[in-house]
Amino acid sequence: KQIIKLGLMGFGTVGTGVVRIIQAHQEDLQKQTGLGIEITKILVQDAEKFRNLASMDGKLTTDPAELLDDPEIEVIVEVIGGIHPAKDFILGALERGKHVVTANKDLMALHGAEILKKAQEKGCDVFYEASVAGGIPILRALVEGFSSDRITKMMGIVNGTTNYIMSKMSQEGAEYADVLKEAQELGYAEANPTSDVEGFDAARKMAILATLGFRVPMKLEDVDVKGISSVSKEDIAYGKQLGYEVKLLGLARRDDEAIEVSVQPTMIPKTHPLASVNGVFNAVYVHGEAVGETMFYGPGAGELPTATAVVSDLVTVVKNRKLGVNGRGMVAPYKEKILKDDTQ
Ligand code: NAP
Ligand code: HSE
Repeated sequence: KQIIKLGLMGFGTVGTGVVRIIQAHQEDLQKQTGLGIEITKILVQDAEKFRNLASMDGKLTTDPAELLDDPEIEVIVEVIGGIHPAKDFILGALERGKHVVTANKDLMALHGAEILKKAQEKGCDVFYEASVAGGIPILRALVEGFSSDRITKMMGIVNGTTNYIMSKMSQEGAEYADVLKEAQELGYAEANPTSDVEGFDAARKMAILATLGFRVPMKLEDVDVKGISSVSKEDIAYGKQLGYEVKLLGLARRDDEAIEVSVQPTMIPKTHPLASVNGVFNAVYVHGEAVGETMFYGPGAGELPTATAVVSDLVTVVKNRKLGVNGRGMVAPYKEKILKDDTQ
């Protein structure tokens, strides 16, 4: 049978989910793409941790060159996270003509333009659906589903960890530190959870949403950010008494003159659909001039929901490869011409 070989970089929460989904859905993935998908190598930091995983024997390596320099590996899936060394790995993969799927919002929010430019030069795909709102296919919706419309406003609960914490504080009167620990144990939080609780993770996601939704490159430093570390149980209880839920809310809106993107704890009236988004669930409200109001809802973090988005991107890469149309997809919003047209 014909197969496509991939190199997986990172074997933590999301990497494990990617392996599980590819193994469990192998037959269906093959039916859809016409190609078998083989995980040829997995890059880890400490191979000792995985010594009991006999099924991974021979695949694990601590040397990135074993993936990057293997001409048979056509796709790199990066789920290490952070900027370094993930950025060098991704640029190195693209330089060698390999397609990339990543869940890395830190990288795409800060260096997305550079990465997508390199992908374009090399005729490669870069997809990053998992970087925003875990299992909700919101980036595809913005790029493809609303390509005919002009989006004017997005509001999002886009960080699962903080929503999990605030929901438990609101519903059970739980203590902030205890629930944060739980979110970490469940694999929702970032390696450094300061990114979650101080709102930086949500800011990165809102920058990506604004860039793709408004088709204008949004700089991370232009997003106003305030996290939840100063929100007390008492603040939440007080809000409830007044008929509000406190949520970490991302807001992106534009009019004819300006674009504004922010993340901050916000009192949401209980009657608003965003007020009932609880636990690790995320939701993104999108308003378009023609479509009106829409809302997307689903699990925003966790092993399998996030891996679903990663493997779906992988399926798109494989389908594109079969059709010989790699190098298109989500590159468009960063193109110079489109930006000028859009911002004039
Ligand atoms: P994780 O559980 O910490 O996994 C990352 C893995 O990468 C760890 O096993 C780590 O090894 C390994 N690693 C770190 N540096 C490495 C290097 N230089 N070479 C090889 N391996 C290296 O993180 P995760 O939750 O899977 O997240 C991965 C990415 O997905 C991040 O970009 C994150 O923001 C994104 N994401 C996560 C979720 C989620 O729900 N978890 C959802 C959406 C997006 P050690 O354990 O030895 O450090
Ligand atoms: N730490 C992130 C969150 C993971 O809690 O939303 C998903 O991007």
